[in-house]
Amino acid sequence: MYNYHRTEKYDKRFLSQNFMGPNAMLMLDEITQCVELTKEMRVLDLGCGTGLTSVFLVKEYGVQTFAVDLWITATDNYKRFLQMGVDDLVVPIHADATVELPFADEYFDALISVDSYHYYGNNDDYFEKHLKSLIKKGAPVAIAIPGTKQEMNGIIPDALKPFLDDEGFATLHCIEWWTQILEKHLDDFSIKEMDCTDTAWSDWLATDNPIAKQDIDMMKADNGKYLNLISVTGKRK
Ligand SMILES: C[S@@+](CC[C@H](N)C(=O)[O-])C[C@H]1O[C@@H](n2cnc3c(N)ncnc32)[C@H](O)[C@@H]1O
Repeated sequence: MYNYHRTEKYDKRFLSQNFMGPNAMLMLDEITQCVELTKEMRVLDLGCGTGLTSVFLVKEYGVQTFAVDLWITATDNYKRFLQMGVDDLVVPIHADATVELPFADEYFDALISVDSYHYYGNNDDYFEKHLKSLIKKGAPVAIAIPGTKQEMNGIIPDALKPFLDDEGFATLHCIEWWTQILEKHLDDFSIKEMDCTDTAWSDWLATDNPIAKQDIDMMKADNGKYLNLISVTGKRK
């Protein structure tokens, strides 16, 4: 059983103004209960978006965090980190995770990625080619991603066709599929449907974000049949 009391203390308005999808902080709260993060660690928060996860990592674990994202600029995130009083421990970085990331080998003590890894890590090579060298052997890895309850092989079910394009849907896969991609890289490998799936989605759908408004119809059409959230945790082999 997970306990989400850490997420619950954050200002709901601040969170909903900065969500880019299902409640990122709640997802992070859940996956970080499956790995060990300690104060002296240097953490890569890959695909951090508006940096809600980086705020949480600093405030809840006191870790030094490198907040890397492509769609959100470093300046945008820096302003948010200042506002949240975490700027001394978070380094905002604008970078593309599919290009060589600007870090030294074995720089990181942990890797976190919430609602992002499916965009660039959804292939057999990514972890080995782009991430493995950056994180230390034995470093905790915790990833949360949207996925599907069964493998759809990129074929969009009729109910979801009005809402999703081929490119977006191709990033979504089931637990067995992600097991093939990631199990070989992680000791103590664990993968499961997330307990917070329903709440994380409803927190997002309740926001004023126009994309969330579109997603309301999508989730109604889905009716719990295809979409879920998946967590992957382990230690870098
Ligand atoms: C749906 S948003 C989620 C953001 C944030 N993690 C959250 O959960 O609120 C997906 C994020 O993945 C990031 N992303 C996608 N492709 C990326 C890439 N190649 N390199 C770095 N970040 C990427 C985007 O910049 C975007 O912020």
